Amino acid sequence: MLESSGSASAAPKFDLVDEILALKKSRNAVLLAHYYQEGDIQDLADFVGDSLQLSQAAATTNADVIVFAGVHFMAETAKIVNPDKIVVLPDLEAGCSLADQCPADRFADFIAAHPGHKVVSYINCSAAVKALSDVICTSSNAVDMVNLFPKDQPLIFAPDRNLGAYVQKQAGRDLVLWNGACQVHEVFSERKLIALKVQHPDAVVLAHPECEPPVLRHADVIGSTAAILNHAVSSPKSTFIVVTESGILHQMRKAAPDKTFIPAPPEANCACNECPFMKRNTLEKLHAALRDLQPRIELPEDVRQAALRPIQRMLARDLTAA
Ligand code: 13P
Ligand code: SF4
Repeated sequence: MLESSGSASAAPKFDLVDEILALKKSRNAVLLAHYYQEGDIQDLADFVGDSLQLSQAAATTNADVIVFAGVHFMAETAKIVNPDKIVVLPDLEAGCSLADQCPADRFADFIAAHPGHKVVSYINCSAAVKALSDVICTSSNAVDMVNLFPKDQPLIFAPDRNLGAYVQKQAGRDLVLWNGACQVHEVFSERKLIALKVQHPDAVVLAHPECEPPVLRHADVIGSTAAILNHAVSSPKSTFIVVTESGILHQMRKAAPDKTFIPAPPEANCACNECPFMKRNTLEKLHAALRDLQPRIELPEDVRQAALRPIQRMLARDLTAA
């Protein structure tokens, strides 16, 4: 809302947060934010969650407009399940290095090279890759989705080799893995993590399954962002080393202000534990997206329909759905 300062000559004060809230209401928009967004965006969101929770929220919303404070594949998933709604992503360049490592044409060749295999794809992929898949999974349900298939069914798992290796171990079955990885989760340093554990012997290590196996070996709890947040809040322990993107610390500190959360360090002295794609969204871009209803996510209808089926199977936890 535009505010008057009380002085006739002063320029009206523009309050970005008030403006966003007012636009959200007038547009009948819902703001969905991933845990890796900046804290100021998370605090304005109608719903903050991990990839599975956000896709469930997108599938059930009554809003006319979905503003997705996350990355492209997340907003694309929201559009796939809501073809008649306007879906905007504050910055269209908010991509994902993992999704980019699996181009649909090369993935189609990979599938063709493995006849008889069904395809389980992590939600961190393009709509075109989803369209080639039998079922989609997220980090919170990947083991369950793999276990929906009979034990003797050969499976391809793509595009994250680290999540795939973790699922392989948990499900106790072989998977053909696509060789992709997240540029944020693969930079955590095993050496520095061990040093941190020596410094904080009582700390619980919480890690995301996108991390590499040498790092996951030192984790006490491995789970999606929502799972490790829930563990941190409900645990009687007071100190946690957090091995995932640092945006999650915002909700951890809000939910458990008396506990200590230590972000695990990357190998280099950099802020590489921040996802540069997630961090492209800002309050200013969010405001512009609500005001202009741009940039929108649009998809060819044939790709959308083909990508919808494996998403519906995930949401229904049923391979015969869709
Ligand atoms: P989750 O939201 O499933 O924890 O995955 C994290 C992630 O890397 C999203 O890009
Ligand atoms: Fe992609 Fe990794 Fe960023 Fe998630 S954290 S959006 S997987 S680059």
